[in-house]
Amino acid sequence: MRNKLIVANWKMNFTVSEALKFIAGLPREAKMELEDAEVVICPPFTALYALDEAIEGIPFQLGAQNMHWEESGPFTGEISPLFLKEMNIKYVILGHSERRQHFQETDSTINKKLALALQQKLIPIVCIGETVSDHKEGQTFEVLEGQIKKILDGQLKADLGSLVWAYEPIWAIGTGKNASPEQSQEVAQWMRKLIAKILDAPTAESMRILYGGSVSEEKARGFLKQPDIDGLLVGGASLDPKKFADIIMSAAPAQ
Ligand code: PGA
Repeated sequence: MRNKLIVANWKMNFTVSEALKFIAGLPREAKMELEDAEVVICPPFTALYALDEAIEGIPFQLGAQNMHWEESGPFTGEISPLFLKEMNIKYVILGHSERRQHFQETDSTINKKLALALQQKLIPIVCIGETVSDHKEGQTFEVLEGQIKKILDGQLKADLGSLVWAYEPIWAIGTGKNASPEQSQEVAQWMRKLIAKILDAPTAESMRILYGGSVSEEKARGFLKQPDIDGLLVGGASLDPKKFADIIMSAAPAQ
């Protein structure tokens, strides 16, 4: 069975003190162990160390928002997965659409980052998604298929079961517009079939697929009810302790 995953992507928000204030301000019930669900906070790099201490006793995991595809070298300003490993970081987001849009990331750089993340036993959260024009022109599946194939190309199959995909339609990120739970289920189910063809069915079954794009506390449960949606990647709503707590609680079994 695949555990549900609720991931906070704080993007370029929160200083160290603001990050600590957020954790302190989260309602108690959101900081308790959840059955079959995991919570991951992806703060800016600068807050990772302080958060690692602050979440002691809270069953959260930490994730980074990016990493480089080399272990070390002349890459001023970049972060190696080795730095993350030493800090207890378990997850790393790769290929977020904002990194593709503003920092020239491509499926080919994401492919290299994925290979190193897996080799370093970090759990990758790989983002894919179509633009608004792809969506309008009915190109969604074609675009996603291209991204998936390029990102998986040459990867070692034995390592890939832990991979987490985040399906984030670009037109839904930060816009208040969502894919509907049914649309996201259709895409996630289709992705699983495609990956089963490219790799094999057991690997496709063990991969988790998240939905991301304007997830709100009101809509979270609708997505999590879908059989192929294993969790959520949350941007804006993850910056508000009350809203994020409600999203976490939506992964708890209904009372
Ligand atoms: P959003 O961001 O929830 O603010 O739309 C999601 C993301 O970019 O991962």
